[in-house]
Amino acid sequence: MDYMIPQEEPERQYAYIRLLKDIIADKKNTAGRELTYHIQTFGCQMNARDSEKLAGILEEIGYVETDTEEADFVIYNTCSVRENANTRVYGRLGHLGARKKHRRDMLIAICGCMMQEPDEIEKIKTTYRFVDIVFGTHNIFKLAELIYDRLRSDGMIIDIWKDTDRIVEDIPNARKYSFKTGINIMFGCNNFCSYCIVPYVRGRERSREPKEIIREIEKMVADGVKEVMLLGQNVNSYGKTLDVPVSFAALLSEVAEIDGLERIRFMTPHPKDLSDELIQVMAKTPKICRHIHLPLQSGSSRILKLMNRRYTKEAYLELVRRIRESLPDVALTTDIIVGFPGETEEDFQDTLDVVRQVEYDSAFTFIYSKRTGTPAASMDGQVPEEITKERFDRLLAAVSEGARKRCGLDVGKILPVLVEEVNEQHPELVTGRLSNNTLVHFKGDPSLIGRIVDVKLNESKGFYYIGELK
Ligand code: SAH
Ligand code: SF4
Ligand code: F3S
Repeated sequence: MDYMIPQEEPERQYAYIRLLKDIIADKKNTAGRELTYHIQTFGCQMNARDSEKLAGILEEIGYVETDTEEADFVIYNTCSVRENANTRVYGRLGHLGARKKHRRDMLIAICGCMMQEPDEIEKIKTTYRFVDIVFGTHNIFKLAELIYDRLRSDGMIIDIWKDTDRIVEDIPNARKYSFKTGINIMFGCNNFCSYCIVPYVRGRERSREPKEIIREIEKMVADGVKEVMLLGQNVNSYGKTLDVPVSFAALLSEVAEIDGLERIRFMTPHPKDLSDELIQVMAKTPKICRHIHLPLQSGSSRILKLMNRRYTKEAYLELVRRIRESLPDVALTTDIIVGFPGETEEDFQDTLDVVRQVEYDSAFTFIYSKRTGTPAASMDGQVPEEITKERFDRLLAAVSEGARKRCGLDVGKILPVLVEEVNEQHPELVTGRLSNNTLVHFKGDPSLIGRIVDVKLNESKGFYYIGELK
């Protein structure tokens, strides 16, 4: 049979998908019901997008989605950016194994960033032997082939690539929301911030060709997508290594030309090389949302140097000044780490100082987590837990104070909101987002989902608004 399988991608995967369609159809007949899948996604938007690709392949094969782990096929798409992410995965995987004892035909796959770490693979092989398929971040497009291999063999299938220079286009994908999605514009990271595991688990930086990105977005827009988020670990370095180099700002301008696309977001720009060209393109293109996530990590120039971030406190503040000058209504959000090795009270005061000066709309705050294999893991002066926790609380208070000042500035205005879902706690309300990413709740029905509507912002609740449909 295998001799009929083409070597080229994505044709090879489509051949496996066809083979599996028949196998799954037989299984459905025997069971007298649909076969279900569930993907549990940990981590960032990259993983969320990868999960949409995995879901697309499973749906092509004939599985239908279910929202619990009581499924015929469960995939964990893992994150390893902090230690506690890993611990959580193993706790849940243990429960899943217990469930599989009563459901012998159930399939369990584990993939994503954690699986790019050799120690984790060993752990799966020795302790979690009930797992059927293990793969990494570079070969998610191969899911159909891996399932086929598993069904044709007895043991665990493990397929991990150390790195790759390949980008396989045109693999099916199923979007979580019909009206918005993430689009990878690049993969990997070359920055090697000293605390961060991402460059090791996602490999070297690779950019997609602009025409492939545009083609994919055009197809999605024809299929109902109104908002895209362009994804990369450092979108500012997009396109530098292409045969014909293209800047991120130029890509944004081109994406903004797509008819029918109403909103464009991006994640994440690195402060070290956010260009004036990008700020100018944003200023003159209303379709680009008024939100920049600008990870600070630390406000101390000394710590930033140890972190290998390649900007100083002063350069960051100057960048914020330039952004606010050209984009007065932009929302700024950030990521901050407390307790990086060697962080003193004085360093931490610098972080608080930046937080107070910038007044972020919101911030993700993290306690430093030691990742084996990164340079920071072996640095002197690991900060004791009590000190980190106490700094963390002070940081949260400073962030909230700034956020309270920012959210609320638009009370009384009528602004466009993309409606995303029915409010979970109050089903008579729907929830949507402003261009600046702030959430708005207002009275409305499910027919509004996926539409951009004008909403009057009546009241600010700190991190969100209560409004009314206009
Ligand atoms: N590429 C993005 C970040 C991706 S990781 C950027 O450069 O901004 C998301 C966030 O996780 C980081 O911004 C950082 O704040 C946090 N993070 C990464 N490694 C960490 C570690 N070892 N401990 C604690 N937080 C970490
Ligand atoms: Fe990690 Fe730095 Fe790359 Fe972001 S830019 S993914 S923090 S190494
Ligand atoms: Fe986590 Fe991987 Fe994203 S480590 S933060 S899921 S790139």
